[in-house]
Amino acid sequence: MGDLNLSDHMNDYVRACALADVPEVGAISVEIGDTPVAIVRSNGQVYAIYDVCSHADVPLSEGDIEDTTIECWLHGSRFDLTTGNPIGLPAFRPVPVYPTKIDGDDVFVSINQES
Ligand code: FES
Repeated sequence: MGDLNLSDHMNDYVRACALADVPEVGAISVEIGDTPVAIVRSNGQVYAIYDVCSHADVPLSEGDIEDTTIECWLHGSRFDLTTGNPIGLPAFRPVPVYPTKIDGDDVFVSINQES
């Protein structure tokens, strides 16, 4: 009756890539539907973030990763991979981030659950 159904939300996850496709510390770009998503691995965790900087139209997946941040290679703004918030200028708007889960050897992302 209008309540959130958690099991339905679990069904929103779609396979993004094989875990082995993502460098131990690095990022790859995938398309989920029409959405470009950077799959990022750092410190043993896997993150998913919209693969377009909020400052200009460049892919974040080509930037450097440090702990829980990814740096835009063009002007150097860093984004928090857990919240999508920019940590430094010139970007000032957040980038969507998405929940991930590992199932077997694969990475799954729910792009319907932006946070
Ligand atoms: S394009 Fe990303 S910080 Fe300018």
